[in-house]
Amino acid sequence: MRPVRVILNAKSPLINTPAWLALQDHFKRVKNTHMVDLFDEDPQRFDRYSIEFNDMLLDYSKNRITDETLKLLFDLAKQAGVEEWRDRMFSGDKINNTEGRAVLHTALRNRSGKPIFVDDENVMPQVEAELEKMRVFSRKVRSGQWIGYAGLPITNVVNIGIGGSDLGPNMVCRALAPYAHNNIRVHFVSNVDGAHIDHMLNYLRPETTLFIVASKTFTTQETLTNANTAKQWFLEGAGRVTEDDIAKHFVAVSTNETAVKEFGIDPENMFRFWDWVGGRYSLWSSVGLASVIYVGMDNFIEMLEGAHEMDNHFQTAPLEKNMPVILAMLGIWYGNFFNAESSAVLPYDHSLRMLPAYLEQADMESNGKSVDREGRQATYSTGKIIWGAEGINGQHAFYQLLHQGTRLIPTDFIASVQSNSEHQNHSDILASNFLAQTEALMKGRDIEETRQQLKDAGIELHKAEKRVPHMIFEGNQPSNSIVIKKLTPRALGSLLAMYEHKIFVQGIVWNLNSYDQWGVELGKKLTNNILEELESGKDFHEHDSSTKGLLDWFRKSCLKEED
Ligand code: F6P
Repeated sequence: MRPVRVILNAKSPLINTPAWLALQDHFKRVKNTHMVDLFDEDPQRFDRYSIEFNDMLLDYSKNRITDETLKLLFDLAKQAGVEEWRDRMFSGDKINNTEGRAVLHTALRNRSGKPIFVDDENVMPQVEAELEKMRVFSRKVRSGQWIGYAGLPITNVVNIGIGGSDLGPNMVCRALAPYAHNNIRVHFVSNVDGAHIDHMLNYLRPETTLFIVASKTFTTQETLTNANTAKQWFLEGAGRVTEDDIAKHFVAVSTNETAVKEFGIDPENMFRFWDWVGGRYSLWSSVGLASVIYVGMDNFIEMLEGAHEMDNHFQTAPLEKNMPVILAMLGIWYGNFFNAESSAVLPYDHSLRMLPAYLEQADMESNGKSVDREGRQATYSTGKIIWGAEGINGQHAFYQLLHQGTRLIPTDFIASVQSNSEHQNHSDILASNFLAQTEALMKGRDIEETRQQLKDAGIELHKAEKRVPHMIFEGNQPSNSIVIKKLTPRALGSLLAMYEHKIFVQGIVWNLNSYDQWGVELGKKLTNNILEELESGKDFHEHDSSTKGLLDWFRKSCLKEED
């Protein structure tokens, strides 16, 4: 635990609760158990510890668990009131207590026809209306009916947004690229480093480009700066254009109509969503507009359907057979009892290459908290560091540390069976690598096996003995395997909803509000102070000597360049 500067007198009682203490006790007894022995003892282990949901399989048998472990973990979930909190979330209760907001991304994909109420108002008609607006608009763009100022159809769509207004739709576009429109390309600009937008604009023509300015608050500095640069580029490139012409090339996605108007986008061209949708949970809303244009509304709806099916599973399956709950509780087992600090997401599907980055925000911005719902100090570790990359590339980069490093790093391997590529030989190699890696991480290689292999390779005994310690693999590294038959829009929806609910369950067990993000505020405020000083060359604020030294160095270096 990192030491805290502000000591809150009140401490969260979680670690002294019966379910927690029982797990601690159990941990002491089983912490050295090797998974190889667990597999040897129980030939049915895979059947016992795997479940299917639609076309998805979760194999969690390669975990350091027994029936007893799982029972105690589910006891902890029950003690935390996971089921009650889940029902409160789905029914529109304001469980985001610090902001007084409901948490209803699930309403965006509610395909049941049942109403959902926030402040006594059924939100479903608004959700449906916005989906319809997206359908009509995207159909026009995709069919070439939406004509730019020069009478040409749109061929390039640029989503300008950051965080949840970028990562979600960006990841969805990559994941569903095989379903994409042949003649429309979608781009994402997020970084305020001008190099990002410059690079993009170099390849675009104002007459065939549509900008989507996506920002929940419409106050985010990076997004508004990029949007203004895009507008300027458009006006300079297009020459004499009218307000009507701008309307053909700029649309907004936001909850903030006033700010959208101020920016100069007609509210007619604004796609809405609501304060009960968290930014990092917003890809199901009109924030998904870029992905709708790219893959079409029918595919987007399929994705919503898949997510809704996972919502139903999460709401109705008993905890013991509930995919998000199982994943969440395994994460808690490693994070809080084995003290694992991170967890890796390793997709063996090129289309899912952006999933780790997306989940970094979804998970770490949600559960990176050290104070519980009641404002008490959390005396246990909470959100784990989520990281990862495409599995196959990672094998040739960071897997060494997974296999022989000193840390326990639980992993999620994600693979799809039916590839989008026609090269079956590539798919077979990819699948074999995925299977082999989870096996190697679990089994490792002991001394005897290592010696034998060296002997078989004809290495002389004295040389072999020197090498043995370096070639031993401890194994016992846990992994979940999530296997999807084919990465369809529906399967993607289910996969993403599964992770969202996993994050929710962990937040409930840790007694956190997973739906605020006060931690990003301080940096934003200090940025504005420093920007003022950087631009004016004057000092207005007090800084530590390091920040001051860096600021001065920046200023000096700027001047030299100008000279
Ligand atoms: O800075 C963090 C954050 O507030 C995220 O939560 C959010 O997804 C991102 O910024 C973008 O915010 P907005 O959509 O309001 O521009």
